[in-house]
Order: sequence, then C-alpha cells, then structure tokens
Amino acid sequence: MKHILVTGGLGYIGSHTVVELITNGYQPVIIDNLSNTNRDVLERIEKISGRKTPFYEADVRNQDVLNQIINEYPVDGIIHFAAYKAVGESVQEPLKYYQNNIGGLMSLIDVMKDNGIKNIVFSSSCTVYGEPDISPVNETSPVKKANSPYGNTKQVGEEILSDCQFLNTVALRYFNPIGAHPTALIGELPLGVPNNLVPFITQTAIGLRQELTVFGSDYNTKDGTCVRDYIHVVDLAKAHVKALDYIDNHPDNKFEVFNIGTGNGFTVLEIIKAFEDVNHVTLNYSIGNRRAGDVEKVWANTDKAKNILGWEAELTLEDMVKTSWNWQKSLAITS
Ligand code: NAD
Ligand code: WQD
Repeated sequence: MKHILVTGGLGYIGSHTVVELITNGYQPVIIDNLSNTNRDVLERIEKISGRKTPFYEADVRNQDVLNQIINEYPVDGIIHFAAYKAVGESVQEPLKYYQNNIGGLMSLIDVMKDNGIKNIVFSSSCTVYGEPDISPVNETSPVKKANSPYGNTKQVGEEILSDCQFLNTVALRYFNPIGAHPTALIGELPLGVPNNLVPFITQTAIGLRQELTVFGSDYNTKDGTCVRDYIHVVDLAKAHVKALDYIDNHPDNKFEVFNIGTGNGFTVLEIIKAFEDVNHVTLNYSIGNRRAGDVEKVWANTDKAKNILGWEAELTLEDMVKTSWNWQKSLAITS
C-alpha cells in the first residue's frame, strides 16, 4: 500500500481527497496545523472511510516533524494542500501569505530532496489566468500578473516546482470548488464571514447572514453577473488520485499542469437559481456594486485532464448545490 503524505489534509479539499485516497487503496498520512480547520474532521474522515488515518498536528515549515513522518512511514509521494487562501487578507498581510505558502512549499521540497522523495501534487488555482482574454482557458493560456499576493504564491509555487527538476510534479489548477461529501460529514468550514459565493449563500439561507449581495450585474455576460467554472469537491478530490496514477506511470515527468474544472461556466444568478430550485428555499439577495479585483468570466478547457489523466467531472450543478445545503444544515444541527 502506497503512503501519501497529505499536507493540509484536514482542510476542505484535503479531507475529501483523503477519503478518495483510502477508497483507492492508498494510505494517507496527514499533517495539518489546524490553522483553518479542527481535529473533529479526522474523526469524520474515519467515520466515512472506516479506517484510522495517521495525523500529525504540525506546521509544514517544521522540518523535524516532516523528517519524523518520513522515518516512520515509507512516503511515496506528497499532496500539498497546506496554504492560506483568503485573497483579500493576502492583500492586507502579504508576508503572512509568502511565509506560509512559499515558505511551506520550500520547506517541503527541501525535505523531499534530502529523503529522495520525488512525487508531488500541488494545489494551484485558476487564479493564475487572471482575467483571460478568451474562455475557456487551456493550460497554455497566458499566466497573467497576479492581482493578489495569494495569487502570486500560486504562480511562484508553480515556478519553483518546475525549476526543481529533481521532482516529478503535477500541478492542478482548480477552478471554483463547491459542494460537500454526500454523507454531509465533511465540507467547507469558513471562519468568520465567508468571502466565497456558495458558503455565503448557504449561510444566508440558514439565517446566519441577512442577505447575499450579488457583486455587480453590469458585466458583459448573459445576465450581467460574473461567470465561473464551479466544480464539485468530490470530483476535484478524485483528480488527485488520477494525478498520482499519472506520476506513477510517468517516472521521468518533471512538471505538468492540468486544469481541473467542469468546462461549464455559470453566472452568479444561475447559481442562486439552482440553489433555490434544487433545495426548495428562497434566498434573500440583492444586486450590489462590483467587488474590486473580480474577474468577469473564466471557465476551463478540460481536454488535457480528460485525455492525459483520464479524469473528468461527473457531478452536476444540482449535486453541488444540494450537498452544499445538506452540509450547512448538518452544521446547524451539530453546532
Ligand atoms: P483549507 O484552508 O480548507 O485547507 C488548508 C489546510 O491547510 C487547513 O486545514 C489548514 O489548517 C492547513 N494549513 C495551512 N497552513 C498550514 C501549514 N503551514 N502547515 C500545516 N497545515 C497548514 O483550504 P482548501 O480550500 O482545502 O484549499 C486547499 C489548497 O487548495 C490550498 O493550497 C488552496 O490555496 C488551494 N485552492 C483552493 C481553492 C478554493 O477555492 N478552495 C481554489 C484553488 C486552489
Ligand atoms: C464567485 C462569484 C463574485 C460572494 C476565489 C479566489 C480564487 C480561487 C477561487 C483559490 C464572483 C460572486 C461572491 C458574494 C457574489 N481560490 N460573489 N457575492 O472570486 O471566483 O475566486 O475562489 O485559489 O483565487 O479569488 O470565487 O466564490 O469569491 O466568487 O456575488 O457574497 O460570486 O463576485 O463573481 P472567485 P468567489
């Protein structure tokens, strides 16, 4: 059984990926410093998977702990989720983002090199495309100057990994992950007021927020609101298993990047309507001003992932808004 070190494995995408790894016969080992999650997630993963998963509460910048894990388990590869991800906060506190996201990556690569571990899957983002000239974007579309320090950490992270030719890297550029596990035992845990659309929708529907503001209705899109490629987190998690297969089958690979989206763009109003229709709830929302820095429209060309990784999204927008709502309702019951 192959051991995969999952950094940030108790976070939103990491927890779903750990479940998929177990389903596919891998043994994940998690390191997470709990800066944006909590320990309960481990029990929930164990409940879903029926298996104990080794967990280290530590920072990826702590190389002693990384070495300890590698001494204890025959780590074959690493999936690196651990990072801060709040775009607005990164503008206010850029150093915090560079220290964690770049510092964490460099700490990890250093330890990989010392221990002869080559295989790594890196969490990148569609944010690297900025405001694209044309959508769908493919992996050769231009990488635009990042509009936040967070976005820059993803661009620089990709560059560092591609410079480290001793590694076998797959960078996955996620589009907009939403949804939750069908058991409603794991999902996204936004701290404070959510920045992202779907957590804001579900918190408004459940009464934690008074009203959702739709940020702008004067964009050049079919209904004037921004377009994104929303992808179910379970589909996204499965892409990581395919990325590990690819690495395994291509031992001479140095660095490869894949878009991970559905290939479909939906507007903000379409997401709201789907949420209302599928869940039979009425959402309190109004149209407000544009949010500074928002991209007008972006969605993925996913041919490369389909043809090379053998991966494509299977779950629908209905699945996404339904599981997001079930997750929100389960939080209301357990909290
Ligand atoms: P998340 O915050 O839920 O998960 C990240 C996890 O990493 C958290 O559990 C946090 O406690 C942990 N962590 C952070 N810094 C750490 C450190 N130094 N050492 C150990 N653990 C640390 O975020 P997520 O949504 O699951 O995102 C996972 C990755 O995917 C991130 O790299 C993020 O930038 C990237 N990404 C996310 C999105 C998105 O919209 N959610 C989109 C594109 C890319
Ligand atoms: C989606 C749409 C908003 C909230 C962010 C990061 C990006 C990537 C994915 C990590 C936009 C609109 C939102 C609200 C709204 N993450 N909206 N009212 O902006 O595509 O991307 O997450 O790599 O880097 O920037 O996602 O969910 O914030 O917004 O109208 O209260 O919903 O304007 O059009 P975004 P989002």
